[in-house]
Amino acid sequence: MSVQTILEKRRSVRHFDSNYTISPVILTSLIESASKSPNGNNIQATRYLIIDDPDLRSTLLPIAYNQQQVIDASALIVMLGDYQAFEADNIIRIHEEGFQSGYFDESLRDYLANAAIQYYANKSDEELKLELTRDVSLASMSFILLANEAGFETITMSGYDSAQLKASLNISDRYLDVMLIAVGKGIKNGHQTVRHPVHKIMYRNIITSLG
Ligand SMILES: Cc1cc2nc3c(=O)[nH]c(=O)nc-3n(C[C@H](O)[C@H](O)[C@H](O)COP(=O)(O)O)c2cc1C
Repeated sequence: MSVQTILEKRRSVRHFDSNYTISPVILTSLIESASKSPNGNNIQATRYLIIDDPDLRSTLLPIAYNQQQVIDASALIVMLGDYQAFEADNIIRIHEEGFQSGYFDESLRDYLANAAIQYYANKSDEELKLELTRDVSLASMSFILLANEAGFETITMSGYDSAQLKASLNISDRYLDVMLIAVGKGIKNGHQTVRHPVHKIMYRNIITSLG
């Protein structure tokens, strides 16, 4: 299926076959491919926390306002951003790996690593949060496209209490929780949704505040 076809056909699905298991090999492969998504300075901050323990899923149900897909989907993934990815150690290690792999020479390694370190050095907490949100969101969309291509259905969720979710899963402040993704075999189609006509969302050179 082409990306365009997936985008035309995909719906958010809220009813899943609770007996269906996605093989860990397939799930790993989807995540591995999603990790190829573009990300700022290639600092690779996205983390995928798979929740497959039934007791944890039950704990999360009320935290996610009783959205049944939390329990019924084959996999529930907490999409996280890792604040430690901004640290110089991580940035230097990744660029060294690129150099060792022969992808660029020493001078480009040093230029890219230093540029990345400088880029994050003076950012506020809010700006760093935005950086993580960008990277994790792009990886999330890739995962959704890949999962749909593989014949699964998905739903993205921000409908949960962030503080309670982090407490119940022992997620420290090192991580930003960006969203949940439930993935599995749908048993009921998601309802159809409308989109603005393209002329209402596309501007050229200047965006107006009317309309
Ligand atoms: C960031 C984000 C958070 C969402 N959170 C929820 C959610 O908590 N519960 C839910 O039922 N749908 C949730 N949705 C799904 C949206 O309601 C859905 O994508 C939108 O209505 C368009 O429908 P479609 O995905 O079927 O095209 C979320 C979507 C996004 C992108």
